[in-house]
Amino acid sequence: MPQAKNTLTIEIDRHEASPIYLQICERFKAAIAAGHLKPGDRVPALRGLATQLNTARGTVEMAYNILVDEGYLQMRGAAGTFVSSSLPGAVTRTATRKSRADAPRVRRIEPAADIGHDAKPLRPGLPALDAFPRKVWSRLVAYRARSGDPAALTYPEPSGYRPLRERIATYLGLSRGVECVPEQVFVTSGYRATLELILRSLAKPDDRAWFEDPGYLLARNFLVETGVRLVPVPVDHEGLDVDAGIALAADARFAFVTPSHQSPLGVTLSLARRMKLLDWASRADGWIVEDDYDSEFRYVGRPLPALKSLDRDDRVIYCGTFSKVLFPGLRLSYVVAPERAVERFGQLTKSMNAGSPYLFQAAVADFIAQGHFARHLKRMRALYAERRMLLANAIVKAFGNSVTIDLPTGGMHLVAIFRTGRDGPIDDMAMAARAREAGLAVLALSAWYLNGRARHTLRGIVVGFANVADAAEAARLARMLRRAYDG
Ligand SMILES: Cc1ncc(COP(=O)(O)O)c(C=O)c1O
Repeated sequence: MPQAKNTLTIEIDRHEASPIYLQICERFKAAIAAGHLKPGDRVPALRGLATQLNTARGTVEMAYNILVDEGYLQMRGAAGTFVSSSLPGAVTRTATRKSRADAPRVRRIEPAADIGHDAKPLRPGLPALDAFPRKVWSRLVAYRARSGDPAALTYPEPSGYRPLRERIATYLGLSRGVECVPEQVFVTSGYRATLELILRSLAKPDDRAWFEDPGYLLARNFLVETGVRLVPVPVDHEGLDVDAGIALAADARFAFVTPSHQSPLGVTLSLARRMKLLDWASRADGWIVEDDYDSEFRYVGRPLPALKSLDRDDRVIYCGTFSKVLFPGLRLSYVVAPERAVERFGQLTKSMNAGSPYLFQAAVADFIAQGHFARHLKRMRALYAERRMLLANAIVKAFGNSVTIDLPTGGMHLVAIFRTGRDGPIDDMAMAARAREAGLAVLALSAWYLNGRARHTLRGIVVGFANVADAAEAARLARMLRRAYDG
């Protein structure tokens, strides 16, 4: 049997900001990509490698677990651990792109955490489909479709329909404290398109970027694909731990944050942290990407002003979306470019983007102008506050002491955290997979962490409450969750 033990030398750098277990992962991936380790090779035993590297066995174990999760290694019980016979497709690509071989510091989530696209119960982030004012919306779309305006049939403006950009700028000024002119607002077709525009406009190869840990997993996957080197930064009850970010990578070029309502934990970035983050960006010549995806829904006090409202040094790139306040099938979102990057954003939108459909942009502009938007938000705030309580109460009733729920002060999802069981942490990924099999769109909380298996990662589930119609439905769904939990 081929052995890699004698030929493989793994070296780690204790001065590097990246944690040792991640360095071990990267060294293995690089060795596999370069062909030094081949499918079927046995890799060193945990204890042996830990001794060789003068590190704890648990550190090596954490690295091996990640590599197993990602499909690079296979554990075969007493026989040992081996390089997988079927390596992930990305490995072969990585081998040919040397500059990126060690770039991603963060893994993609497992496909098992994919909840698909349909409107299954409890889907996080899906607004109340039963409460959307369809009649008003159909009337507005039909009006625009019938209008005979040639603009409806020709190519749309790549940066966005001008009246919609104006409405967004006014709305942001009034509701979010974001002062901007319509020329700074670029309409995009979703957060990933926004990120692509930002990165293509401002990022350089091998830039490092802070990313919340736990953090929004779709953005994480997208960023990993683009080759940005993500540096996971812990989140606590005050939001992103800015000091930890500085200790890990003071020279990062980007910080991706959800300050109003951290995704997924739901905490708000404290004022002290906001000021620290802005200060870091000024010193490091960095950019803060503020993802303000669902801040309109706040159930305690008034919506908080955006981080961008405190930005005196033009460092914050503000991102918003109509996916939560209207519906995600619309595929309309927007980004406010920093003043000094407006020209670059404009050039990029022209070359990479054919624009979003006129019809829907015009209908959204009318929806805002005629007061439907403000009315809809007001109604949804009251409805979601009620549905949030229904689901939280039902889960607590079904789970008793096994979960804790910090009632979210905003947003459309809640996190139920599992208490550690008698045999250690609950396997929330397995529980969420069982819930998905039963037809629920549930995500495991640990999947949102870089390393879902580390001791400190919270275990639980992330569930959306916006579509829970009444107490009976909440109780039924909570009982289904409990069955998935019991296995
Ligand atoms: C954290 C976060 N950011 C942004 C978005 C918005 O994404 P999009 O505009 O592509 O629907 C979502 C949607 O679920 C989200 O959860």
